[in-house]
Amino acid sequence: MVNKMSLSIYQAKRVFVTGHTGFKGSWLCSMLALLGAQTAGFSLAPNTEPSHFSLLGNNSNSTIADIANSTSLLIAIRDFQSEIVFHLAAQPLVRESYNNPLNTYQTNVIGTLNLLEAIRQCDSVKSVVIITTDKVYENKEWLYPYRENDQLGGYDMYSSSKACAEILTHSYQRSFFNIEQYKEKHQVLIASARAGNVIGGGDWSKDRLIPDIIKATIKEDKTIIRNPLAIRPWQHVLDCLQGYLILGKALLEEKKEFAEAWNFAPYSFESKTVQEVATISMEIWPSIKIEIEQNDSHNHEAGLLKLDNSKAISRLQWTPKWDTRQAIQETITWYKKFYLEGIVITENQIGQYMNL
Ligand SMILES: NC(=O)c1ccc[n+]([C@@H]2O[C@H](COP(=O)([O-])OP(=O)(O)OC[C@H]3O[C@@H](n4cnc5c(N)ncnc54)[C@H](O)[C@@H]3O)[C@@H](O)[C@H]2O)c1
Repeated sequence: MVNKMSLSIYQAKRVFVTGHTGFKGSWLCSMLALLGAQTAGFSLAPNTEPSHFSLLGNNSNSTIADIANSTSLLIAIRDFQSEIVFHLAAQPLVRESYNNPLNTYQTNVIGTLNLLEAIRQCDSVKSVVIITTDKVYENKEWLYPYRENDQLGGYDMYSSSKACAEILTHSYQRSFFNIEQYKEKHQVLIASARAGNVIGGGDWSKDRLIPDIIKATIKEDKTIIRNPLAIRPWQHVLDCLQGYLILGKALLEEKKEFAEAWNFAPYSFESKTVQEVATISMEIWPSIKIEIEQNDSHNHEAGLLKLDNSKAISRLQWTPKWDTRQAIQETITWYKKFYLEGIVITENQIGQYMNL
């Protein structure tokens, strides 16, 4: 069970977060602040209005720059004397990757390369968690959930760019940060984390189911649902970030056998179709109205995707805490509080989640 005590290793740690202005990064920085960590972030400026990062108002130690700029990145990591890095900066949208493949690969692959190179040049960094995605697996439309040692691949440019980031990370793990030479030739442990479809308050990105539903409902409009039968592992952002923090803790504790890839996902029986998630949302907030898109002319997206979470459960003692229904409930509560009462309940939800 995660709580402030079990993650006390972060107290006063110098934690560098790329992608801190985004949805998951801003939640992560809030969790870290509550754990007593010092954080610095590196990202582009928020590109949504509203933005969770801006609402939280924690702009100290924030570098706004492109991760393709290796010099800015190195200076930011080095100047902060970072001890652990969580790398979340990415172009994270499948449809955008079809529109802009070059930017997708530049950010997701070259950005990860720049980060790994910066770490080679920065003695203070001891632990690194590279965030990729459930979409890194070669999707065979299997009923079975994917395990960490399944084949990597990617039909669309987002998925393949993240699989490239995994391969790149693995290459650096073996070539420069080999665990056989840990403490003899280097001091760095690197792991990667693959999470499912993450939901939670404060996400205003386009092409994401719950944010699209909320935006339409606030305008008293209906939501057009693409890919209603696509099955995904939906999880609350706090379950996902809890996994990243537990993994980072194992690396900070110098457990070199944890420097590998990890899935963080709900139990596979929890996986739900897009339509099921929309239906649960309507049950929770009856004002929500849904229309299923009949035209299937959109770009290819995976139909069936489940992740096997048993490795993280058995070896990291990580467990998903909120099932999919509760994740949807907590997410809708967050948005209703924001839109109907003008209150941001991020810290309250973290407190509730971490039994503070
Ligand atoms: N949200 C999900 O459902 C989900 C699921 C699996 C994995 N992920 C991964 O989690 C991470 C965070 O995703 P998110 O949902 O918070 O996305 P987001 O779009 O909300 O945030 C992305 C962050 O990356 C930064 N960024 C983008 N391009 C950059 C660049 N060129 N230089 C510097 N910073 C740049 C943005 O400024 C932002 O801070 C990503 O790596 C994403 O692939 C997300």
